Amino acid sequence: MTGAGPRSSAPDSTAPDSTAPDSAAPDSAAPDSAAPDSTAVRVALWRAMHVQVDSPPHVLADEIGLKLAAPDGDWRARPDMDPRATSGFRASIVARARLIQDLVAEEAAQGVDQYVVLGAGLDTFVQREPEIAARLTVYEVDQPGPQAWKRQRLIDLGYGIPDGLRLVPVDLETDGDWPAHLAAAGFDATRPAVVASTGVTMYLSKEATAATLRQIAGLAPGSTVAMTFLLPPELLTDDADRAGLAASRKGAQASNTPFISFYTPGEMLAMARKAGFQDVNHISGTVLAERYFTGRTDGLRPSSGEDVLVAST
Ligand SMILES: C[S@@+](CC[C@H](N)C(=O)[O-])C[C@H]1O[C@@H](n2cnc3c(N)ncnc32)[C@H](O)[C@@H]1O
Repeated sequence: MTGAGPRSSAPDSTAPDSTAPDSAAPDSAAPDSAAPDSTAVRVALWRAMHVQVDSPPHVLADEIGLKLAAPDGDWRARPDMDPRATSGFRASIVARARLIQDLVAEEAAQGVDQYVVLGAGLDTFVQREPEIAARLTVYEVDQPGPQAWKRQRLIDLGYGIPDGLRLVPVDLETDGDWPAHLAAAGFDATRPAVVASTGVTMYLSKEATAATLRQIAGLAPGSTVAMTFLLPPELLTDDADRAGLAASRKGAQASNTPFISFYTPGEMLAMARKAGFQDVNHISGTVLAERYFTGRTDGLRPSSGEDVLVAST
């Protein structure tokens, strides 16, 4: 790894199981050290892989995360980047990012001007969609160390931190009052917002996610959340996907980023209703596959295992 690389000890070459979405390589760094989260790096590299190895049309074009991560030159040889073996995970990661991008564009077109990204990682919406971002104030929430690292990388690469991008360091597990931190960063709780959380709930306790949903439900009317969640393995009907999730879980466990929370769609919808959302919807991986991958001739299709809650106040 270069000095800018992730805080994991190696690009998963020592963790052959960790080839699935969001799992991490062994990682001994303290969580608040100024280094990227290796799970965030992995999904950023998958987004870049999609552009580099899959045929057009690309579901999402994002190579900026790759620039931020600045991995070694042989990063595409990482086992978790295997173009064929991990194609379903790669597709799933670009599908969820595209879903969020479309949602934010729709909300911005309707006049919503605040966008909150919980567990933002190497999200590059602000840098890759400058026209939409110009109509928004974007609040990126993440753990203090990884976020400090990202801030410096954005500055080093010349993107800088524009006024419309507010980096808000919060540990969502241990500091329950992220809305107060948002407010201190300029968030206006009297105006609606769109809130995204992708690839995060599996790392948080169910209590922390329930509290987060209650806090989002308490935002101004017209606010929307899109939150991904991992399905319990027994709900996966595809053998390969079930094996992939098991391998991913083992890899994550061997790292310092275990998957601790899985949800059935019914459980997640019930949590959202209980939190106070009026309008609650479930988007399955199959729906995402149909929406973004129909008609492809290369067979690329997302693996199942991660679904999305979309709910409005
Ligand atoms: C797999 S990455 C997903 C990043 C981004 N949302 C995406 O889809 O590309 C998980 C992210 O959640 C963040 N995260 C994990 N636990 C967290 C916590 N307790 N508080 C805040 N962020 C957390 C990590 O730092 C990381 O950026």
